Amino acid sequence: MKTAVIYRSKSGFVKNYALMLSDALTADVFNGEKVDFNELENYDTLIFGGGLYAVGINGLKFIKQAMETLRDKKIIVFACGASPPSDEIHEEVFERNFDEEERKKIKFYYLRGGFQYDRCTFKDKILMRLLKFKLNKKENLTPDEKGMLAAYSKPVDFTNKKNISEIVCYVKSLQ
Ligand SMILES: Cc1cc2nc3c(=O)[nH]c(=O)nc-3n(C[C@H](O)[C@H](O)[C@H](O)COP(=O)(O)O)c2cc1C
Repeated sequence: MKTAVIYRSKSGFVKNYALMLSDALTADVFNGEKVDFNELENYDTLIFGGGLYAVGINGLKFIKQAMETLRDKKIIVFACGASPPSDEIHEEVFERNFDEEERKKIKFYYLRGGFQYDRCTFKDKILMRLLKFKLNKKENLTPDEKGMLAAYSKPVDFTNKKNISEIVCYVKSLQ
């Protein structure tokens, strides 16, 4: 069983998890910005990782195209956000990004990444300021929103090898 890890990472957190997975599973790792589908043909299992941006998974279009093109593969997706993990976030992110048919074909994980404002692009900095303004005015924040607000005040990095253990177990169980 050959496994590839394909990541999209804006500020390094997803890349960090992709490298951990590649190490734990002796899998090849690809930057999703540069890989094409031909390079993924020879793998049995594809693990896609992307950061969460306003609950959308970075690289989602590419993941969906890959699922259409490479139909015989086992597909695993992990989304990486700053919010603390919970069943609600897992469900919200999975349902917002994939329809019912897609969800049947995917094993999905949410991994906590981190947040570092000064690593954000100019556009993301503006978005983050707007989001903070909106969240501060809102009552009854969701767990996702509370987690985001808490991460503003100082850079946080929650990436941890322990967080990939479920994915590692699952991929090993396929072999
Ligand atoms: C514009 C913007 C929107 C974000 N939206 C979310 C979000 O909806 N939920 C969340 O948990 N984290 C959110 N984050 C935090 C990122 O998902 C987090 O920093 C993640 O670790 C990024 O990984 P990457 O730098 O490897 O792409 C957001 C960050 C930015 C800059």
